[in-house]
Amino acid sequence: MKRPDVLFQGVTPVPLRAHGVDYLKILRSRGYERILNPACGQFTLVKVAMQAGFPAKGIVASDCGFFSTVLGYFYAGKPISDINFRLAEEIELDGRPFRVRDSYDALGSEAEKAAYLIWLMKVLQLGSITYYDKMHLRELVQSREKYVLTVTGKLVQHAKPYLGIDYMVMDIRDVLFHEHEEGTCVITFPPAYSRGYEKQFPLAPAIKFDVELIEFNYRDEIAGLWERLRGIQTPILMANYSRLDVVDPSEVLHVLEKRGKNKIEAWTTNRPDLFREGKKGITYQRDTNVVPLGNAKQFGANDELTEDTQVDVFTVSRESALYYRSLWAHKLGHTDAERFFLLLLDKKVFGTVGFFTQHIRLGKANFVFENFGFSAPSHKYPNINRLLMYLITCEDMRQLIRVSISGVNRTYDLRELRTVCLSRYRHVKLNSGILKIITREKLPNDLYKIHYRTEFRPETFQEAYLRYFHEVQAKRAPKEEV
Ligand SMILES: C[S@@+](CC[C@H](N)C(=O)[O-])C[C@H]1O[C@@H](n2cnc3c(N)ncnc32)[C@H](O)[C@@H]1O
Repeated sequence: MKRPDVLFQGVTPVPLRAHGVDYLKILRSRGYERILNPACGQFTLVKVAMQAGFPAKGIVASDCGFFSTVLGYFYAGKPISDINFRLAEEIELDGRPFRVRDSYDALGSEAEKAAYLIWLMKVLQLGSITYYDKMHLRELVQSREKYVLTVTGKLVQHAKPYLGIDYMVMDIRDVLFHEHEEGTCVITFPPAYSRGYEKQFPLAPAIKFDVELIEFNYRDEIAGLWERLRGIQTPILMANYSRLDVVDPSEVLHVLEKRGKNKIEAWTTNRPDLFREGKKGITYQRDTNVVPLGNAKQFGANDELTEDTQVDVFTVSRESALYYRSLWAHKLGHTDAERFFLLLLDKKVFGTVGFFTQHIRLGKANFVFENFGFSAPSHKYPNINRLLMYLITCEDMRQLIRVSISGVNRTYDLRELRTVCLSRYRHVKLNSGILKIITREKLPNDLYKIHYRTEFRPETFQEAYLRYFHEVQAKRAPKEEV
């Protein structure tokens, strides 16, 4: 897990959190006062429980991972040094020896100790395979004190709402199946796959955490587990990942359909009798969840371009970009794109583009991949998609993509744009003179799959626009003279 800004992945999705609050409110109204949150991860569901009205002193979070344990001890006001862990004396970091234990021992406050361990986990998480990892690691190592100070401040802030909760290192299976006090309920969002968290937090060689973690694996364990949970009186609210086959329909409270991936996440319970009056439902988180850009008009089929037409290109949300994509290109499914832009002509939306930028962000490539690029249909300019291609392959676009990827990391070397086209012909006329063919492959259905690349032309958006405009003028001129 290499995203520089993220330490922990796998938090409860927002729509499920909101429904979690509703279901826990029902349990509160039925007199449940104590709540257990095994596999608490980043404590998101602890917040959900608080929002539902559970008092902090009635909340017990637990996990087996070191990251959650450091947070848990800090939030619960337990000394970090009481955690069963050992630090190596010295390890090599960024090619130099680093005194791991001495640096920890030198810290005074609990918040600083927790922050230092989080810094160390981030450093261990980075590895140093790519150039980008190396740069990031160097930055983290060189600015350790600053980083620890910042995280210390954040931790103190973050801890405030959790004041009063308890935390235990405990396996989720033990939490679910030990005797529960009367008035106790459980909420959990356990891991879908096993080994994900071990991989997310490699602790060696600096940290030895003395907990044997047998990672929970929802997909494989749920069938047997659910049968056992049905025999328990304690109400359990548990996330289910695409395994509704093992639960009874009455045990499903809310389903979240994930964007175009045929994946679902759902709240299920072993005590449906308690939730009879609760709302059941489905939230679709598909690409059809799309919104137009403010009040912006669309470039119309009969709109004209002029020498003075003004071009604007800017970053937009996935939802806005996909709104225009579904308008102009029907029934397209999921996209891997994660950076989105709209292109406007005289303030009217005429193009939508999505890029996959992960490889460049990780320093594994010097190109971005254009997943899709569609333009509004135009009677006047049937080849207007060519204008879109001119615009997204100019220097201004390169700059815009770099800024949108991240303002922090300056090590990207963005040189090219690449894309793939499926075509009935060996050449796509719209792209000629703009993109160069890397490979061409004939598919069994007789279509050609053409891989393209290009460097960015040293042009501004306005210059790229004029290039297209003059091209169109030049083509029209002789006809108009006839
Ligand atoms: C999907 S995350 C939980 C996310 C959490 N609900 C949130 O929103 O932040 C899963 C957590 O389960 C923990 N975990 C994995 N196997 C476990 C086990 N056998 N017992 C307890 N926790 C486990 C991992 O350490 C990780 O923190």
